[in-house]
Amino acid sequence: MSGRLVVFLSVALAGSAAAQTPPAAAELLDEWQATAATPFSKEAGRALWFRNVDGRRCTSCHTEDLTVEGRHERTGKLIEPLARSVNPERLTDKKKINKWLYRNCKWTFGRECTDQEKGDVMTWLLTL
Ligand code: HEC
Repeated sequence: MSGRLVVFLSVALAGSAAAQTPPAAAELLDEWQATAATPFSKEAGRALWFRNVDGRRCTSCHTEDLTVEGRHERTGKLIEPLARSVNPERLTDKKKINKWLYRNCKWTFGRECTDQEKGDVMTWLLTL
């Protein structure tokens, strides 16, 4: 196979993998939707991502461009990109998603996110 064809195929495969919702994320969305008032919206999720509470936002660590590395605001530790288009490992593990949404909502907003908020933000993250 020519090099160009290999590159083309791997780009095409990566694209289709990212476009699919991983089973773990789909299950969580179902669980959260059961208690959420309205259908999840990627616009609401994006708004939550940029919501500023006392100077803290999700972007504080993950930055505004989710296709690049972030950096923990306090510890300086590098954080791999959250966008599945460049990091297909993302949103594939229920435990990990729950753990980090719990911790990050507490850090950013000073409280846990509601199921509505978690569903909105994950719906948006899944489009990236
Ligand atoms: C204080 C820094 C910080 C802030 C602010 C922050 N995060 Fe995170 N986030 C992390 C770290 C650290 C990880 C775990 C390391 C990793 O997965 O690379 C993580 C992981 C995640 C994951 C796990 C994704 C996966 O499946 O691998 C999600 C989802 C997430 N964050 C969403 C959010 C949302 C939504 C907000 C805003 C409410 C937010 N984060 C704010 C530091 C932060």
